[in-house]
Amino acid sequence: MNAEYIKSSEKLSQCPEEKYPEFAFIGRSNVGKSSLINMLTARNGLAKISSTPGKTITINHFLVDNVYFVDLPGYGYAKRSKDMRESWEKNLWQYLMQRRNLMYLFVLIDSRITPQKIDIEFVNKCGEEGLPIVIVFTKTDKEKESLTNKNIQMFKDELLQYWDELPVMIESSALTKKGKKEIWKFIKENMKADMLNPVS
Ligand code: GTP
Ligand code: MG
Repeated sequence: MNAEYIKSSEKLSQCPEEKYPEFAFIGRSNVGKSSLINMLTARNGLAKISSTPGKTITINHFLVDNVYFVDLPGYGYAKRSKDMRESWEKNLWQYLMQRRNLMYLFVLIDSRITPQKIDIEFVNKCGEEGLPIVIVFTKTDKEKESLTNKNIQMFKDELLQYWDELPVMIESSALTKKGKKEIWKFIKENMKADMLNPVS
């Protein structure tokens, strides 16, 4: 597999040409977005893993064979100024709604904790906007299986208050590589045929 960093963009207009099907990754700061991208591509250090939460503030494109992976900044990072958060939010939703080659958004949820309001709100907004999402529960290696399962069940129950049909959900661990096969299978099945041979 070939995996390379392409570029970081502040907004949609700066993103690379829509030449390949694209899959993006989002979630709260520190949820494990960069780690998941590294795990999927088997390239440690490809998507930089930061110990400073909220470091990523750009739309980051990686080309993985003939698919774009996009590492998006964590939402709800309180230490960013209000102005910065608002302008980022605007850029983010412009990207999410207008990027024509975006096939799915993977929304990462920390399996170690009970449902967080900010995550539920973000997932619900995706639903309202009709954005195709997959939910990925991260860090499943960290807690006892019974606690992880309980948190995941609570998240599902919470969503079922708003959703008739739940989005696809996958459990993952960057440490044990749990979920790698499922996520790749999903990506392969959801690359639109007309994007596979882009006309240049
Ligand atoms: P920002 O870019 O700052 O928003 O963070 P991020 O969502 O990209 O998270 P990142 O991948 O940088 O991971 C944050 C921390 O969690 C790092 O210390 C990782 O090593 C750790 N981590 C990520 N995924 C896993 C996992 O599946 N299991 C365990 N045990 N630790 C993980
Ligand atoms: Mg990151």
